[in-house]
Amino acid sequence: MPFDHFDLIAGCYDRAGPFNLSEPFLGYLSLSSENLLLDAGGGTGRVALALRGLVREVFVADVSRGMLRRAAMKGLAAVNSPAESLPFPPESVDRVVMVDALHHVSDQYLTIKELWRVLAPGGRIVIIEPDIDKLVTKLIAFIEKILMMRSHFLSGEKISALFIDPDASIHLCNDGFNVILIAEK
Ligand SMILES: C[S@@+](CC[C@H](N)C(=O)[O-])C[C@H]1O[C@@H](n2cnc3c(N)ncnc32)[C@H](O)[C@@H]1O
Repeated sequence: MPFDHFDLIAGCYDRAGPFNLSEPFLGYLSLSSENLLLDAGGGTGRVALALRGLVREVFVADVSRGMLRRAAMKGLAAVNSPAESLPFPPESVDRVVMVDALHHVSDQYLTIKELWRVLAPGGRIVIIEPDIDKLVTKLIAFIEKILMMRSHFLSGEKISALFIDPDASIHLCNDGFNVILIAEK
């Protein structure tokens, strides 16, 4: 089993502060109180906690037990699972968020395939990733390389290309630091 950097930093991860729920982000997600939401690579549940009151149920899926323990302590439903292989039936989830996690997964192609598999028709996936075209992200990528975190940052176009279903409707935008991809089924 490879060394898990996130297990190590789980205890201090939330010191960065709560997730900022911006109007555009809420617009991309377009949540309803009936929705079942999956926070994939959700870590300590920072994002899930901010969204919990807006949906019927939220699940946090992550590979790091240390990070998930923190999510569970917040009363969130924590699922110890790689995003590449989720324990959810096909088309069972209305919304998926993946914030700052796609560059950490082992297999980005399988991850997108899996998020698409669990997404219900009419559902949405919202992925937020640091924009690799920005200098600050290149610096983060360099530091994570030194730390041997095996991160792999993709441009918005390359993330879009991982959605192979011709019926996927993909919209890309940028908030000045992050690439935001919205995929509708
Ligand atoms: C930078 S943290 C982001 C956590 C959370 N999304 C947030 O914004 O606070 C990246 C997370 O991705 C998780 N992760 C890495 N590889 C993963 C995989 N294959 N499947 C699911 N989660 C993964 C890590 O354990 C970590 O919790």
